[in-house]
Amino acid sequence: MIVFAVETSCDETSVCIINKNKEILSHIVFTQENHEKYGGVIPELASRAHLQILQKISKQAISESKINLSQIDVFCATCGPGLVGGLLVGSIFTKSLALGLKKPFVPINHLEGHILSPTFNNSLKFPHVCFLLTGGHTQIYLVNELNNFELLGETLDDAIGEAFDKVAKLLKLPYPGGPEIENNAKKGLIKSHDLPHPLESKKNLNFSFSGIKTAVNLIVKKNPNYDNKFIQNLSATFQHKVVEILQSKIVIINKYLKENKISISDITLVGGVAANKYIYSELSNTAKKFGYLVKLPEKQMLSDNAAMIGWACIQKSKKNIKSDYNFKVNPRLTVYN
Ligand code: KG4
Ligand code: ZN
Repeated sequence: MIVFAVETSCDETSVCIINKNKEILSHIVFTQENHEKYGGVIPELASRAHLQILQKISKQAISESKINLSQIDVFCATCGPGLVGGLLVGSIFTKSLALGLKKPFVPINHLEGHILSPTFNNSLKFPHVCFLLTGGHTQIYLVNELNNFELLGETLDDAIGEAFDKVAKLLKLPYPGGPEIENNAKKGLIKSHDLPHPLESKKNLNFSFSGIKTAVNLIVKKNPNYDNKFIQNLSATFQHKVVEILQSKIVIINKYLKENKISISDITLVGGVAANKYIYSELSNTAKKFGYLVKLPEKQMLSDNAAMIGWACIQKSKKNIKSDYNFKVNPRLTVYN
């Protein structure tokens, strides 16, 4: 089975041709740079940019894969959640190809793409726990099976990646802020400022990041003539606070699993923020104390990409391909009922 996959839910335009033997025949991720000067993604600009580039990179992906369009068995695209304009561009484009070639079209949930991405390069046991850490979502799932996800907790306000981006913006660092904060943090001290640990007393699996962002804002305002050292220290302190919050969730997860007699061995970190090496190594150490292994997707499947969408399609289509030309894109699509 050869799958043609498209991802356009935010500011990455991506096309992948992948087969069920885990061979990525071609994979193109075009990151739109027209949002940088605004410090965040502008939806209207994103959908126009998808429209301009999608056909070109699709042709390029076909050419790099060394197969003909007619050899593709299944077409799939992200149909939610995400920015509605981008979802419409990607899904209508892909559906049109499928209809023209009389092939099935499978709508894919972006979150499912992220959650299943580590099954491509790891042997994962079910159930396992997944931390979905992106620019739009921060959720913890108990992944019971390939198609059975139980939401254990989520952010009540900002997403974790959004918090990285907003803190970076306050420090006048470029967008996306996550890698900038990570780099600056390498040279900073982790306890140089006082930052809150929101919801600490609640002992549940929900998150809140807006209070930390406000605290960072106040610190920046009190230090108008800040230098590089200040940026490095505040980056390190912020990133470490995020780590402490995530570590506290592992403790709560362990208690929850014990109380419910659920046994797991793996915790996965997925989404753009999982690219952060400090977060990965600190969480791995904490998880080890409870006997869990932290596992990551392949690098190319961390930030938004079509390979994880194609792989999710292959996983979903193992038993039978569920073609659906009538599926409507849904900016607020979830993976649970
Ligand atoms: O998964 P993703 O590409 O897109 C969404 O589905 O939202 O995640 C993008 C987010 C951005 O907020 C970006 O700042 C963050 O991932 N990110 C990072 C790092 N690399 C990307 N955050 C922290 N550390 C990083 N190294
Ligand atoms: Zn994503």
